[in-house]
Amino acid sequence: MADPSDDALPSLVSALSDAATSRWQGLGDRPAARPGAQIAPDVFELTGAGVGETEALSRFWNDIAPHLNGGVGPHYAGYVTGGVTPAGLIGDWLTPIFDNNAAFNTDGAAGQFETETIAMLTELFRLPAHMGGTLTTGATTASTVALAAARQWAGEQQGIDSAKTGSPYGLAALSGSAHSSIAKAMAVTGLGSNNVISIRTQPGRESIDLDDLRRVLAERADASTIVIANAGTVVTGDTDDIAKIQELRDEFDFWLHVDAAFGGFAALLASDQRLMGWEQADSITIDLHKWLNVPYESGLVLLQDAQVLPRIFGNTASYFSGEPQPMDFGLENSRRMRALPIWLSLAAYGRQGIADMVARSVSSAHKFAEIVTADPRISLAAPVHLNVVALTSDHVDVHELGSRLAASGAGFLTPAKFEDQPVLRAAFVNWRTDPDALALALLQQLD
Ligand SMILES: Cc1ncc(COP(=O)(O)O)c(C=O)c1O
Repeated sequence: MADPSDDALPSLVSALSDAATSRWQGLGDRPAARPGAQIAPDVFELTGAGVGETEALSRFWNDIAPHLNGGVGPHYAGYVTGGVTPAGLIGDWLTPIFDNNAAFNTDGAAGQFETETIAMLTELFRLPAHMGGTLTTGATTASTVALAAARQWAGEQQGIDSAKTGSPYGLAALSGSAHSSIAKAMAVTGLGSNNVISIRTQPGRESIDLDDLRRVLAERADASTIVIANAGTVVTGDTDDIAKIQELRDEFDFWLHVDAAFGGFAALLASDQRLMGWEQADSITIDLHKWLNVPYESGLVLLQDAQVLPRIFGNTASYFSGEPQPMDFGLENSRRMRALPIWLSLAAYGRQGIADMVARSVSSAHKFAEIVTADPRISLAAPVHLNVVALTSDHVDVHELGSRLAASGAGFLTPAKFEDQPVLRAAFVNWRTDPDALALALLQQLD
């Protein structure tokens, strides 16, 4: 029988360290994607005695690892997928070495560590210091927390404590190009995914049409409303005019949420004004496993008034002090020290190092776009607004082109639709993404 024992630890850690180093050194040679990969069923046979840690680790390398993609490497630009920096990696590995529960401040500093790291992030994004919130598993959970706060706000306007008595009446969310996670967040907060109302977008853009937004707000003057502004849309990387949306609050009362899952990082680009007004949003979602390049699962929600959160997420029990603890600000009670890879990245690279990483992704997107559109068969479906390149073609089926690229292992882009036309999009988020190699791999599939 294989019992846990500390004896094997030194050799396991050094085996892991050797394997990790060689894997990362060879990242560029690994297939970016493995469409159709399947792990053999016998891997999932639960044995009575267990095989021991060393054998289990070697089974992982032999039987599971070959079926995983090389998304962390330089040739994967699908979805909006961040990579992992060395600081992010060691921060993540350190986390279970301490395995502190960041739920509370009562038995150590793990809770405070999270709160102070959130303050560093607020400063990084040049947001007001009074904003606060919680670290989440990603943007979907961040927006879920934000929408729960919006629900509480709307309930309080109707004299209801929604956290206790259920959703307020008639609350809906208006957005131009809402990410699919918003419907999910509306579903789980009890607000209903059918209550996401699509607002027209500007011609040739994914950004919201302000006249249409104003029209719908006027129609809903008697109802409670959330407006979800998008900073970084998935298909074309577009951003709403948040300052103009914010101005509409002079006329209409609504909760303003900004989904800045990756677009929030534009705050780090010198003299970039596109996020103007976001500092006045009621809530903001930012994903850290995207452009901060820390490992999954890492997201952030910030609110103007984070003190609403304990009214929704607060726990009471005889063994809790009654003072709000970090776990009273979000969905999870027990949770890992998510702050560790984030803090290590902020400490290691500083504001400038992270800003440079973001700026490099933006130039890579432009470079990739320039190389591939030099081929007359490929054109841009939309301008490169930030770090996403949406490609189209009158000559080839771009979705099929994407499938061929994925099957070749030499790259991975995501098929999508923009204005009902098929597009193939590349998102530059991973600090390792190589625009030249990716462009060459794509062009080779054309011939
Ligand atoms: C704009 C936007 N919002 C939300 C999400 C959801 O993020 P997550 O998968 O981290 O929950 C994404 C992911 O791509 C996104 O791009």
